[in-house]
Amino acid sequence: MIKKILLAFVVLFIIIQFFRPAKNISGDTTYDISTLYHVPENVNTLLKRSCNDCHSNMTQYPWYAHIQPVGWWLNNHIEEGKRHFNVNTFASYPAAMQKKRLEDCMEQLEHDEMPLGSYTLIHTYARLSEADKQILHEWCSATIDTIKSRFPPDSLVLKKRNRD
Ligand code: HEC
Repeated sequence: MIKKILLAFVVLFIIIQFFRPAKNISGDTTYDISTLYHVPENVNTLLKRSCNDCHSNMTQYPWYAHIQPVGWWLNNHIEEGKRHFNVNTFASYPAAMQKKRLEDCMEQLEHDEMPLGSYTLIHTYARLSEADKQILHEWCSATIDTIKSRFPPDSLVLKKRNRD
């Protein structure tokens, strides 16, 4: 009986290997945040190091991403992460949404919620020091100021349905 169950698991494990999620490697930067706003080199380095695996169009996949169901789990993080905030499509968001996303970033940094704990557990290099957090936080704040200086206040109010 136990042998049969084990065998079933092995077979199932082999079968699921054929169901690979599409890779997030288009690298499309047509609407990159830097096309609209200044992204200093040190900020860019931090974003690449700690955020872009889940918040850009280019994920650097670890070897275990090729093993299911781990790959599905990672893909879910990437899809969810990109849906909330994608540095490579940022310029296509309406101005009000751009401002909101940067405010969200500041909040995530203040509460140490990003990068995800399950990620920094393995990608220890992606952990942010207090100084790193401050650099990102100040950049978000400065970019919000730029947005405010470019758009009239009423255009920066989010309509309810877009608020998620
Ligand atoms: C391992 C993947 C991963 C990494 C790395 C990561 N995030 Fe996220 N991020 C997510 C996921 C998944 C969500 C959506 C679910 C959630 O809020 O937990 C998210 C949500 C967000 C949101 C939206 C939160 C909201 O209020 O809706 C912001 C902003 C954000 N991340 C910023 C960052 C920043 C800044 C970094 C780097 C310092 C970062 N993330 C690193 C996966 C990641």
